[in-house]
Amino acid sequence: MSSDADSAADAAIDLGAEPPLGRGFGHGKVILIGEHAVVHGHAALAAGISTGIAVEARAGRTPGASRLRVPAWNLEASAGDGTPVGRALEAIVRRIEAPGLDFVADARIPSRAGLGSSAAMSVAIARAAAAAVGRAEATEAIDAAVMAAEEVFHGSPSGIDAAAAKSGVTGRFTRATGWQPVPVLQKITICVGLSGRPRDTAAQVAAVGRLRDRLPAAGEVLALLGRLADDAGAALAKGDVDGLGRIMDAAHGLLAALRLSSPELETLVHAARAAGAVGAKLTGAGGGGAVIALAPGHTRDVLARWRAAGYEGFLADIVAAPAGAPAAVVGGAPR
Ligand code: MEV
Repeated sequence: MSSDADSAADAAIDLGAEPPLGRGFGHGKVILIGEHAVVHGHAALAAGISTGIAVEARAGRTPGASRLRVPAWNLEASAGDGTPVGRALEAIVRRIEAPGLDFVADARIPSRAGLGSSAAMSVAIARAAAAAVGRAEATEAIDAAVMAAEEVFHGSPSGIDAAAAKSGVTGRFTRATGWQPVPVLQKITICVGLSGRPRDTAAQVAAVGRLRDRLPAAGEVLALLGRLADDAGAALAKGDVDGLGRIMDAAHGLLAALRLSSPELETLVHAARAAGAVGAKLTGAGGGGAVIALAPGHTRDVLARWRAAGYEGFLADIVAAPAGAPAAVVGGAPR
C-alpha cells in the first residue's frame, strides 16, 4: 500500500470499537485512453487516483458469517445473500480463506460512475481480509480474489480496473502483458465530471462486442483507440499536455462513434472545452458515468462551468510511478 493509501486508510473510519484486525485501501481510477479497446486485446492507459475506498475488518458477531457495510452508499450485504455485492464478498473471503469478518468501508468515490469503485472496493476488502488473517503478503490470493469479485460485477473484465485500483499510479495495460507503470514527466491535474447517470459496464462491453460483430470498421476503431493509448503514454512521458489533450478529444470522438456517449456526457465534454480544457473525453465504460478534462490553468473554471450546468466534479492528480519501478514501453520506444 502506498503512503497515500496508508493515510487515507488511517483517516477512514472511527467506529469507537475495538481496533481492526486488518485494513486495506483500493484506489479509484480513470482510464485516460483505451477503454473498450483493452477488452479486445489492445492497449489502454489508466491512472489510479489518490481518492478511493478504505476498508477495516473486525471479528464478526456471527461465527463464519461475513458482512460488509458501506455507509456512504447506504449499502449492507452479507456473503451469500445472493446480491452482486454479497456474491463478490463471498468470492473474496473464500479465496483469501478469511471467513467470519465484518467489513466497514469508507467510500470516497461514487459507485457506478466509471471510476472503478467495484475494483477499489474489491481490492480494499481483499487486502483488509488478508491482513486480518496474517496473509497480507499473499498477493496471488489477493489478485485472484479481486478478479473473482470483478467477474461477479462485470462478467469478463479486462482486469485494468483492478490493476489501477492496486497500483495508484499511471500504467499501461493489455490483457497479454498486464499492468506496467509508465513514466510521467510532471504531475498532471485532471478534472473529473460526474454525469449522475449510473453506467453498466457489462452491458456497454456487450454492446460494443455486438457492434464489432456487425460492423468490421468498429474493430478498426478499437485498434485505433489502442494506438492512441500508446501515443498518450508518449505524450505523458514528454510532458506534452496539449498533445495529450488532442488525443483525448480524438478518443472521445471514437468512443462516441461506438455509441458510448450520452447527452449528459456530451454536455460535460463541451462545457469543459468551453471553459478552456485542451481535451475532454468520457472515461470508463460510457453510456453514463464520468468524463475527464485536461485544463491547465482552467481547472476551477471547468468545475464551475459543470456546477452551473448541474453536474458535480472534482480534481485528481496523475502521478508517475515511484523511481525504480519498471516502466512500460509506450509510443513504440523504450523509456
Ligand atoms: C471499464 O472501466 C473499462 C472497460 O474497458 C471494461 C474493461 O476493461 O473491463 C470498459
